[in-house]
Amino acid sequence: MSRPNADERILVDTSDEDSIYDTHSLVDSSLSFSSSVRDYCYENGRRYHAYRYGQYPMPNDEEEQDRLAFMHHIFKLLIGGDLYRAPITSAPASRPKRILDIGTGTGVWALEMAEDFPNAEIVGTDLSPIQPNYAPPNCSFIIDDAESDWAFTSDEAFDYIHARSMGGGIADWRQFMNQAYAHLKPGGWLELQEYEAWVNSDDGTHEDAVMVQDWQEKLDQSSKKFGKQLNVAPCLSGWMREAGFVNVTDDVYKCPVGSWPKNPRLKEIGRVGKVSIIEAVEPYTLALFTRVLGYSYEEAQAYAEKVRAELFRPSFHIYVLYHYVYAQRPMDG
Ligand SMILES: C[S@@+](CC[C@H](N)C(=O)[O-])C[C@H]1O[C@@H](n2cnc3c(N)ncnc32)[C@H](O)[C@@H]1O
Repeated sequence: MSRPNADERILVDTSDEDSIYDTHSLVDSSLSFSSSVRDYCYENGRRYHAYRYGQYPMPNDEEEQDRLAFMHHIFKLLIGGDLYRAPITSAPASRPKRILDIGTGTGVWALEMAEDFPNAEIVGTDLSPIQPNYAPPNCSFIIDDAESDWAFTSDEAFDYIHARSMGGGIADWRQFMNQAYAHLKPGGWLELQEYEAWVNSDDGTHEDAVMVQDWQEKLDQSSKKFGKQLNVAPCLSGWMREAGFVNVTDDVYKCPVGSWPKNPRLKEIGRVGKVSIIEAVEPYTLALFTRVLGYSYEEAQAYAEKVRAELFRPSFHIYVLYHYVYAQRPMDG
């Protein structure tokens, strides 16, 4: 397994304590986010997808779309601003002509790919129609459940299939890998970008974050009980190999949570990382804790508040591991 960044110890900046203001300045920043208004299902004050309601435990409202915008930023920041790691542009002749983005969410990745690959056709699929209407002509979106047979014929095979942050949305990952394999052209690439739902630290301070530890254990337990495990990132490369993919690569990067790193680039990423995890506490907690663990709405909110309070404390030098896993369908496969 290749780990370009994950083996490096991140030095702590002892001169500048992380503060709540890092988070507020980002929340108030002038980043703009897309939103769309449709009829959906409401639960515990959050809005959920209507198509195949109940299948995916995260909301799809504007708050969630804002969170996804932060996540998009992080996934790119960690790999130097790129949208992908697979070698899809290694030769001009190999530039993809048909690209599929499964679980596209707001479609932000697909839209940027459409700009970068103007001669390619990009298709995004999702349970929620939360993509903007102003897509360029080479980008389209369809509502489709990735757990059902994908809505494409063999004549519509793809050169590159991408999915990001789908942990918690897929029950049968082996079936997912088989479908991806079947819908790729020989020699085509599959790339899955996924973070671990588990915090770490190089200096052991993560062990003092007892609420965060408890939260991630409960998320792990409840997502498994729900039937769609959240923490799948470390398993993806193995499942790809099992499905027959070759040239499997798992690039792992540390995403700091907070501005504690000494390195300025990691410090910047850490600021965004902190906002993103704080914004993730409620959406991850609400449905899983109330639907699966039997918490009331008030109990789930009180619990989430304690987790957030701990995340605001600057004494934890924690990070999350992000996996960029890519693999190729064999030329003769
Ligand atoms: C965490 S969001 C990530 C969105 C997007 N990939 C991104 O990185 O910005 C996960 C998305 O997957 C979608 N999703 C979850 N389960 C799905 C399924 N079975 N089929 C299709 N989409 C699904 C959700 O509706 C949601 O938009």
